[in-house]
Amino acid sequence: MSEKEKNPAGSTASVHAGTPAVRAHNTLAPGIAQTATFTFQSTEDLEQYMRGQDDDPEREEYGRYGNPTVRELERRVAALEGADDSVAFSSGMAAITSALLTMTKSGDHVVLFNDCYRRTRQFVSTVLTRYGVEQTLIPAGDMKALDAAIQKNTKFVISESPTNPYLDCCDLKELVRVAKSHGRVRVMVDSTFATPVNCRPGEFGADLVVHSATKYLSGHNDVLGGLVAGPSHLISLLRDSRGVLGSVLDPHAAFLIARGLKTLNLRVLRQNATALAVATALEKHPKVERVFYPMLPSHASYAIAKEQMAGGGGVVSFIVKGDRKETSKVVDGCKLAKIAASLGGVETLIEQPAIMSYFELDEEGLSKVGISSSLIRLSVGVEDTEDVVGDVIGSLDQL
Ligand SMILES: Cc1ncc(COP(=O)(O)O)c(C=O)c1O
Repeated sequence: MSEKEKNPAGSTASVHAGTPAVRAHNTLAPGIAQTATFTFQSTEDLEQYMRGQDDDPEREEYGRYGNPTVRELERRVAALEGADDSVAFSSGMAAITSALLTMTKSGDHVVLFNDCYRRTRQFVSTVLTRYGVEQTLIPAGDMKALDAAIQKNTKFVISESPTNPYLDCCDLKELVRVAKSHGRVRVMVDSTFATPVNCRPGEFGADLVVHSATKYLSGHNDVLGGLVAGPSHLISLLRDSRGVLGSVLDPHAAFLIARGLKTLNLRVLRQNATALAVATALEKHPKVERVFYPMLPSHASYAIAKEQMAGGGGVVSFIVKGDRKETSKVVDGCKLAKIAASLGGVETLIEQPAIMSYFELDEEGLSKVGISSSLIRLSVGVEDTEDVVGDVIGSLDQL
């Protein structure tokens, strides 16, 4: 198998897949259709459009229903995921909540792994349940529990791979096999951490692939967005629903995400390499208790990551041999890595989940959700590998 066949979301695809052959005014870069609405030449022109008889199938009526800059981004992400189509939203959470609100109804049931993004879990447990959708939370990656949890009314199995912050990878082939053995259960995979460069869940049979485009797809920590990729009939359902829910992506944000996509492959390959180098160096450090990176043989997901992923991604988590305060010293000692939430951008970011994402929890609460106060999550950027490794190891050396 050639490199290209192994990795269809390669650099050529990152730059070109899904782009039009010719643009208006022959521009190379896409224009930004910064408009809230679209005009019609006459009432006859309008009526023709409304009847679906317009010569231009791409013509739009109003910004909440569609926009050409957003549409190009959607086509490009679909091409990278190997999906029929995709639909863009104003954030990753807007993508997830819009998809679940659209595709579930009172009396349905959804199954989630307990290591899904916590806001996704929060949405299901606090909002969807209020609308009469039942949920079952199952242990991460436990396929027996999944099999047992699926009921007659189960509509969705929601999963993520790799997960945050422990980078556990779900066996996607097995996930789909178990879910589909129960009939019409749909599988949704949040592939934000993987990116289509490292893994394409649609190839394993997932129905919907979700991204927080805020992370790797845009890649520059300067824009929020989300996408859902999948078969045309489901994506057009979501597009119609987006026009009602109003969770639309702004055209300027779409332009920024589309621009970021051009370097997706370059960035992710560098981030894969740097993260592996950091993880390997951390594992040898006397002040490190444990390292979590899927491409380390010591990681529980190593075998499945090797099988279904081209690289381990740009996030490395590790537990410092020391208490909460000493761990904060390691974070503060980094000069290159900036303290910030989020991940996947060109800048290396560092956070101590106990005092950021899980700040409201005390020690007991933290241990219940499996978060050590000595845990650090590092999202490597595209700086020189030796600088990123040197930054973190240098800070640990000072302990
Ligand atoms: C795996 C995952 N999914 C979804 C989201 C939500 O994305 P957004 O912040 O763009 O709403 C995040 C954000 O951190 C995430 O990490």
